[in-house]
Amino acid sequence: MFQDVFIIGTTGKVGRTLVRQMFANNDVDSEKHENPTRIIGLASSSEFVHDFQGIGSRTAKGFTNGSMGGRKYYGLMEIFELMQEKYLPSRQNNLVFVDATTGGKELLELHDEIISESDYGIVTANKNPLVLSDFKTFNLLTKNVFRYGYRCSVMAGADAVDFLRDARDLGDSLLGLEACLSGTLGFITTELHKRKNFSDILNDAYHRGYTEPNPADDLSGIDVGKKITILARTSGFDVNLEDVEVESFVPMKYLLEKDPEVLIKKMQSFDSFFREKVAIAEGKGNVLRYLARIDINGDKVKLRIGLVDVPRDSEFGILSGRINKVKINTDTYNENDPYIVSAPGAGLNVTARNIRRDLLWQLENRIAI
Ligand SMILES: NC(=O)c1ccc[n+]([C@@H]2O[C@H](COP(=O)([O-])OP(=O)(O)OC[C@H]3O[C@@H](n4cnc5c(N)ncnc54)[C@H](OP(=O)(O)O)[C@@H]3O)[C@@H](O)[C@H]2O)c1
Repeated sequence: MFQDVFIIGTTGKVGRTLVRQMFANNDVDSEKHENPTRIIGLASSSEFVHDFQGIGSRTAKGFTNGSMGGRKYYGLMEIFELMQEKYLPSRQNNLVFVDATTGGKELLELHDEIISESDYGIVTANKNPLVLSDFKTFNLLTKNVFRYGYRCSVMAGADAVDFLRDARDLGDSLLGLEACLSGTLGFITTELHKRKNFSDILNDAYHRGYTEPNPADDLSGIDVGKKITILARTSGFDVNLEDVEVESFVPMKYLLEKDPEVLIKKMQSFDSFFREKVAIAEGKGNVLRYLARIDINGDKVKLRIGLVDVPRDSEFGILSGRINKVKINTDTYNENDPYIVSAPGAGLNVTARNIRRDLLWQLENRIAI
């Protein structure tokens, strides 16, 4: 019994790692798995390959590393229509699209079309469709947990999305949430307390590949804003990205530079600003953290993110480096006994592994081996 997958974004880092993992772990081997994966399609932003009998490792490798092109396409709907026309799902043999892209509106349209007009499933690591949609569409997309997996959109798939989704269905109301959701800003705040210059740390983080392609995306707080919006929506709150009160790590007006190297150089003017922040925090026995919060008062919800100082030995004070953490209070997990998850918030292997986990959840007959 195969699970057919069509992966979009396979010329990117996450998509390429996912395909590599699927072959390396023998997901595709029907002798080793009760429910083997069959990769029937791979796509970049402009080309795709497909084979309903399953794409082999050579073709997959050639396409994902860019050495082998595919068929040009001029809109993702073209791929969806081709599948609608040519792919014949049966009970044992269904299709899941994986979104490992950085795309925006066009991916939201695809997700919407797949969920509304077919029986196919979706697994997404891409946050954009979940925040560009209105709340009604978000609910429509995520309604059926066996058709729409989005755990990887927050904390690279650690149990934040799933915990909140289950709590919502269990009537275990969310009372509040605090989280450090940026690996990059976690790394920067940790290093700042080692008396290093902000611009040197940023330069280091950029060259180690920790930041987004343009570090401005991390420093603006938008990435964290998207994640906290997804968590609040998952808990049933009708909120949009625009509702998040964002105190960016560095004021937005200084983040307009498009060239990362030039931007990093310009950040030297913030070295003394952050030295002072560190000194003030340490004077109180505290450390700096970039914290996201969901505060709930009756049926009112407030989303806030910003740089704060917290006691060094507190739940978020003891965090180090790129590790993310979320602390959740519900009716059951109250203030004294919160639900806490701490895990890498990014990373190609972790993300690819958890995309495969979401795929497992969509198997109709999942059987342990
Ligand atoms: N990196 C992590 O640790 C991590 C963790 C959790 C979630 N994520 C999410 O995973 C996604 C992929 O991240 P990445 O680091 O792999 O990005 P990436 O290396 O920039 O790759 C992006 C991929 O998406 C494709 N793409 C971009 N726009 C598209 C569009 N409009 N339609 C179809 N394909 C499109 C690109 O195709 P071309 O090659 O043709 O441009 C490429 O294959 C992102 O949404 C990211 O936020 C990443």
